[in-house]
Amino acid sequence: MSHPVSTEALEIHINPDEVDEALVTDVRAGLTASPKHLPPKWFYDQRGSELFEVITTLDEYYPTRTEKAILAAHADDIAAATGMTTLVELGSGSSEKTRLLLDAGIRAGTLTTYVPQDVSVTALQGAVDELAVEYPDLRVAGIVSDFIDTAASIPDHANRTVAFLGGTLGNLVPADRAAFLAGVAAALRPGEHLIIGVGLVVDPSIVVPAYDDARGVTADFNRNVLAVINRRLGGDFDLDGFDHVALFDTDNEWIEMRLRARRAMTVHVRDLDLEVEFAEGEQMRTEISAKFRRSGITEELTAAGFGVEQIWSDPDDRFAVVLAEKH
Ligand code: SAH
Ligand code: AVI
Repeated sequence: MSHPVSTEALEIHINPDEVDEALVTDVRAGLTASPKHLPPKWFYDQRGSELFEVITTLDEYYPTRTEKAILAAHADDIAAATGMTTLVELGSGSSEKTRLLLDAGIRAGTLTTYVPQDVSVTALQGAVDELAVEYPDLRVAGIVSDFIDTAASIPDHANRTVAFLGGTLGNLVPADRAAFLAGVAAALRPGEHLIIGVGLVVDPSIVVPAYDDARGVTADFNRNVLAVINRRLGGDFDLDGFDHVALFDTDNEWIEMRLRARRAMTVHVRDLDLEVEFAEGEQMRTEISAKFRRSGITEELTAAGFGVEQIWSDPDDRFAVVLAEKH
């Protein structure tokens, strides 16, 4: 299944055919389901990754700067507690905040290797190129893959710490989260660590604007999944025919992003030989972003085979960085 094609510091573990197959399967399943849905993984082509980086700078989008402040305050504690030799980061994107962990690991004199992993080739290549210049003494070996697969096959180095930052765990539905965490636990040796960033449950008046910003960048990010289907699968989605919707589901304690059809329309997806009807006002789910309580994330990590060692959060209790050890 794995198909390594290496450039200097990048291993491609998924070949383009597998990516296309996964896209075909996900889009066919999602557009023919009732209600319709699409998985968030497909937001992140080059434009999607760029839009995400803009989102991280928006006033309303507090997770990135909040997590960064927590990491800045505790990176040395993390380096000391883990003694990490290799840092493997799943869904690493631009690796921007990770530099705090890299610096701390280097200061501690333990870190030799960084393995960033992402499904977005452009985001990963950009990060790897920059890191090679900024950290000439660090071994940087990027992996392009799906983190669901890689979770269970973390590269076999000594004394690994796995990072999963940004709140991306919350983009997985509960059953997938459990499988993902169990996969990471199974791949680690006792005493190795997981460091995970999660959004905490906050008032909807704070969390909803973070996913529905005034400039409409998140709306463009949301609609970008339609552009990906148009370009990759010969779809004819009219992006202007869909409104961005972000709401907080209080039962599940997650943000749900949806696209709502402005009018009745028929969409064709040529490569799937598929014709899809949308009713006026019909909503299609494109992402969940679950928010956590300390008890909930502790239970999930414990069930997967980790022991929670530390939970650090910000003064407003909006975001937490959790350090867990494989039992
Ligand atoms: N960790 C970074 C980026 C978060 S954005 C941060 O904290 O800012 C989520 C990242 O996960 C994106 O770079 C996206 O390309 C990646 N991603 C989303 N789904 C993925 C999947 N299934 N497998 C691998 N990477 C994925
Ligand atoms: C990557 N992930 C953690 C982001 C989030 O907050 O759920 C993706 C995102 N969606 C809308 N804005 C940002």
